[in-house]
Amino acid sequence: MKKNILTGLRPTGNLHLGHYFGACQNYLKMQDDYNFYLEIADVQALTDNFNNPEKVRKNVVEITMDLLAIGLDPKKVHFFIQSRIPEIAELTVFYSNLVTVARLQRNPTVKNEIAQKKELFGNQGESITYGFLGYPVSQAADITVFNGELIPVGDDQLPLLEQCREIVRKFNSIYGKTLNEPEQVLSTTTRVKGLDGNEKMGKSLGNAIYLIDDVETVSKKIMNAVTDTSKIKKDDPANPDVCMVYYYHKLVNSKNIDTVCQECKKGHRGCVQCKRELIEAMTNFLKPIQENRKYYEEHPEIVHNILNEGTNAAKKTAEEQMKKVKQAMKIDY
Ligand code: TRP
Repeated sequence: MKKNILTGLRPTGNLHLGHYFGACQNYLKMQDDYNFYLEIADVQALTDNFNNPEKVRKNVVEITMDLLAIGLDPKKVHFFIQSRIPEIAELTVFYSNLVTVARLQRNPTVKNEIAQKKELFGNQGESITYGFLGYPVSQAADITVFNGELIPVGDDQLPLLEQCREIVRKFNSIYGKTLNEPEQVLSTTTRVKGLDGNEKMGKSLGNAIYLIDDVETVSKKIMNAVTDTSKIKKDDPANPDVCMVYYYHKLVNSKNIDTVCQECKKGHRGCVQCKRELIEAMTNFLKPIQENRKYYEEHPEIVHNILNEGTNAAKKTAEEQMKKVKQAMKIDY
């Protein structure tokens, strides 16, 4: 029996290199060996985009096309839409009795996100909704309603998994052993830095290269990327380790990386030339992904079918699990 893998993505924007190298490469490796559920977490996206439903709806399809374009195979991966599995919402309600408000407020991921909101929106950041505070409970339901055993996530999600395991233990101790504790699978690649040198590439930071970016967009972004600021003239020697252009060369132009590094250190390579070469390597890297994507853009009905079939398969699993949950809770009338 293949183990169940489950992960989720919030449909709030297209995939960028940070997603690709930080997470999706791992999914590609895992799709052959596991029973893979990939949740397009629209309900979770609505927790902080409830006033922008068009954005979430549009991105359900956008992100699915991105995931298909990078090579995830719908024969191996169940792509499903969270809101179409009402069992998740139902289980969230049952779990909400098993977790205290204080514990949610102490969850480091939630705490961080609240702090970020305060930074972005000032005092308005104080108005945290019940739904937002409770999204770790909903995520625990996401995972356990499919008996998710292995959960590929970034390290920012670890407190959410710990919270999930606590809920599982509490449930089992009250209602009898029904649920399995999920384990994380941490990404083997490191977090991708932004074009500005920020530790994280992110949409809100405006420092990302998207998988759908065309040549012009890629060129503009790379031309503005942060390089070694101590290098003034074209033939000054520089330190590639503080240069984002070199950093991206390492990601998409690894076969030439020694040349890039040595020439930079010796002052035999100007930044403009180096950026031009990176633009070419980056465009070549993105090209096959964008060609695959074009097929799905031209055939949206195929994308809808994939989401329908994945959702139907996911719903079956969720229904079976809910039977067990309700039996254990003595609400199987
Ligand atoms: N919270 C995750 C994120 O923001 C997305 C997500 C939703 C998820 N449901 C999940 C991740 C279940 C792992 C398992 O990236």
